[in-house]
Amino acid sequence: MRPLFIAGNWKMNPNTEADAVALAEAVKAGVGQDHAVRVALCPPSVYLHRLDSALSNSPIGVGAQNMHPEPSGAYTGELSAAMLVDVGCTHVILGHSERRHGLGETDAFINRKLHAALKAGLIPILCIGETLEEREQGRTEAVVASQLDGSLDGLEAEPMAGVVLAYEPVWAIGTGRTATPEQAQEVHAFIRGRLAEKFSEAIAARVVIQYGGSVKADNAADLLARPDIDGALVGGASLKAPGFLGIIEAAR
Ligand code: G3P
Repeated sequence: MRPLFIAGNWKMNPNTEADAVALAEAVKAGVGQDHAVRVALCPPSVYLHRLDSALSNSPIGVGAQNMHPEPSGAYTGELSAAMLVDVGCTHVILGHSERRHGLGETDAFINRKLHAALKAGLIPILCIGETLEEREQGRTEAVVASQLDGSLDGLEAEPMAGVVLAYEPVWAIGTGRTATPEQAQEVHAFIRGRLAEKFSEAIAARVVIQYGGSVKADNAADLLARPDIDGALVGGASLKAPGFLGIIEAAR
């Protein structure tokens, strides 16, 4: 049985360290020392070190929202995997659609990041998902398969078991239009089948596949009840502790 994994992607929020710490402390108070559900918070990078301190005696992981694949050098504004580890990160989100579509990140570039993250001992949360146009054209599986193949290129079977995947239909992100549990389960099952073909049934069974896209406390239980949905990558709802804790409760 794969443990359910709920991660909060705070994106470019909140605007002060005090608010970031207060949110983290409120989630920490709600989670306590309960390990039944894996939880991670992914704040803006400026708060990573402070959140690592705030969550030091908590089972909650700290994740970055991105990283550069190179170990160091002339990459203005970028952060290396070693820097993320140094400030206490355990996870890193890679390939978010806001970077794929907003900043033109390619599967090949994301693949380099994935290998660098694994080499540094970080747990990647690799995002994949189709746009509304691609879904309406009936290309969802082709797009997701292509993103998987490109982003996972060159990965050996055992390291794959430690990669978290997040299926995030772009049309559900920040829109309030959540994929139905049936829609999400269908793509999650396709992803797991693709992993079984690429690696093995045993590896595919171990990979945690989160759903992301307008997850809220009132829709989480139906999504998380599906056999191939192993958690959620939560955006807007992670910015309010009661709602995010409600999603964690639904995962228990
Ligand atoms: O990475 C999670 C995010 O893309 C989902 O955002 O606001 O739809 O939960 P939201």
